[in-house]
Amino acid sequence: MSVRGKLIAVANMKGGVGKTTTVVMLAEALAADGARVLVVDLDPQASVSVCLAGDALLSQMITRGRTLEAYLALKLITRHKPDLSARIQSGVSLTVHKNAPLSLSLLPSGPHLRLVEREILYELTERKFSMHAIDERLWKIFHEDFAPLAAAYDYVFFDCAPGISPMTEVAVRAADLVLVASIPDFLSTYGLNAFVETIWRRSGRQANHIKPKSAPYVVVTRFQAQVRQHQQTLARLQAEARAEDAGFHLLETRIPQAAALAEALVPTDGALPTFSAKYGAHVPNVLIPLVAEVKEILHGP
Ligand SMILES: Nc1ncnc2c1ncn2[C@@H]1O[C@H](COP(=O)(O)OP(=O)(O)O)[C@@H](O)[C@H]1O
Ligand SMILES: [Mg+2]
Repeated sequence: MSVRGKLIAVANMKGGVGKTTTVVMLAEALAADGARVLVVDLDPQASVSVCLAGDALLSQMITRGRTLEAYLALKLITRHKPDLSARIQSGVSLTVHKNAPLSLSLLPSGPHLRLVEREILYELTERKFSMHAIDERLWKIFHEDFAPLAAAYDYVFFDCAPGISPMTEVAVRAADLVLVASIPDFLSTYGLNAFVETIWRRSGRQANHIKPKSAPYVVVTRFQAQVRQHQQTLARLQAEARAEDAGFHLLETRIPQAAALAEALVPTDGALPTFSAKYGAHVPNVLIPLVAEVKEILHGP
């Protein structure tokens, strides 16, 4: 295992394509495999926060300002020196493996993240920052405060907001691996090309134009082998990924459309489920090969 953990951003301009589901599955599978995993929620919808921590703990954390939005507001609007690591909740997992909860940590977002991001733009332009300087500022904060978090973990996931929010853009440009979750249908993959264009082909030396470390990996989600549109779109994605000037790679493991995977995201009130009961046959069929592919990309064969 390398000294610093790997940063993995899961993104797509489109919402509802399985970004959060992919983060939860991979984070839990890597934790079950013995890795130390931190999940950072960059989406104001706080989906991954509520999936991992459950509603009660998340509400408490939001009330106490133990969120990314509170951190950013203090740091950039009031110019305090807030402690980012104090906002990380360890042992959040509601899934049990080998008689103990999975070792997962969470930096949650809250419902005001979008507002806070906008307020930062207003505040800094008011202070005569150029847009370029604002991007520099976020880039610097990411490298000074977020990237060092990776020293205490093997993997740090960023569950990105749909669209390209300021923090999402920084995370995608700084990550060791960008996974673009996409349903293999016309509209989801239409957004995929726009996303690759916007981030990977529009790069230069300025902070908001730093080229990501490598081309993104598309992970096919909600795959239905019997649906013709899915077969055709998958074939097209495979051809595009093989092309000489390909803008993306394609993971071989596909996440199938499955009720059990949708349910895996719903936090339970009662007895905590075990990892193997929660994912069942998806452990050998999907999670283990997915983890193997991700590890091979990040650490080599
Ligand atoms: N593999 C899957 N099988 C069935 N339902 C899924 C699957 N992946 C995601 N979903 C459902 O699709 C919706 C959107 O998924 P989500 O992971 O929240 O997407 P995003 O984070 O991209 O907005 C959710 O209701 C989720 O339960
Ligand atoms: Mg999401």
